[in-house]
Amino acid sequence: MITRILDIDDNSLSLSGKIISGGGAVAFPTETVYGLGANAFDNSAVENIFKIKGRPNDNPLIVHVHSGYDINRLVSYVPQYANRLAAEFLPGPLTMVYKSRGNVSAAVSCGLDTLAIRVPSHEGAQKFLRFLDLPVAAPSANISKHVSPVTAEHVFNDLNGKIEVILNGGKCTGGIESTVLDCTGEYPVILRSGLITREMIEKSVGKCGEYVLKEGEKVRSPGMKYKHYAPTCKTVMYDKNNLTAAVSCYKSNVEQGVKAYILCDGSTAELLPAEVKNILNLGESEREMAFNLYDKLREGESKADLIIAVTPSKNDGIMKGVLNRLTKACNSL
Ligand code: TXA
Ligand code: MG
Repeated sequence: MITRILDIDDNSLSLSGKIISGGGAVAFPTETVYGLGANAFDNSAVENIFKIKGRPNDNPLIVHVHSGYDINRLVSYVPQYANRLAAEFLPGPLTMVYKSRGNVSAAVSCGLDTLAIRVPSHEGAQKFLRFLDLPVAAPSANISKHVSPVTAEHVFNDLNGKIEVILNGGKCTGGIESTVLDCTGEYPVILRSGLITREMIEKSVGKCGEYVLKEGEKVRSPGMKYKHYAPTCKTVMYDKNNLTAAVSCYKSNVEQGVKAYILCDGSTAELLPAEVKNILNLGESEREMAFNLYDKLREGESKADLIIAVTPSKNDGIMKGVLNRLTKACNSL
């Protein structure tokens, strides 16, 4: 199969519509990362997405809809706090989990009685979803466990030959996946951190929990238990307070002929001694770091034998999401 990267216009949308109604999958941009979409009502199309990605079949998918779509067609109950959050943050990088009506393919939620719904704000995503006027089940458009794609080229590198069309919407501005929020209880609970932070949700609706997996407990968001976001080269991770050890690791590897790169935030990069030449700089602000993370991990794997990640010192707000991804990418869990 020939894979083409196409700008989003009437021709590419009409071709995408044909592929989706024929049970196929199309990659499309969102403001977080690129998604690989299929008709959520079509069981074999949804199952095919798992096959294309090599995704474990107990890790459920998010359904994407355009901003005019009535989600009550898909879910049985939307609590009041969820309506308020939707009014404030949607369209945008917030996925909300509800009790499902069970009318999309059972493969979407891998047998769970809940359904995760997302209304992306990316203009290209909205065009695609409005054109189809269907709920589109879409995981990130990478091979399972690999770094998520934030450009059409990243998608191409992972899925060339496996899908026909990648809709090109430029580089994703958000850079890390949406916040996943459980809206089935009395108050919302964050299952995956992202650009919509706990602080933002609390400010809007008062209370917001955060799900932390305890040992031996059954996971509420099955994706949490898997290794994720990992570059293809070796990785190690150091705490920022242990920068000297990270630098020694770099030097001893370089001496042995290993192409080592240090991945760190901008202020840490300034502290590195001059002999450290190979640096993957994530930038300064938390937004910048989210925007750069996957791009730098992909750049790293294309250049390095070893990425030495140094954790940024902040761990609140958006940085929680960034650190969560960085840890999963660079710790061999
Ligand atoms: O930003 C995003 O969310 C991107 C773009 C493409 O929209 N999508 C994405 O999908 O990150 P994926 O498949 O890589 O991650 C979906 C996450 C997983 O952690 C999964 O376990 C969780 O959402 N999830 C999906 N349905 C769920 C459900 N019913 N209950 C709990 N967690 C769910
Ligand atoms: Mg993913």
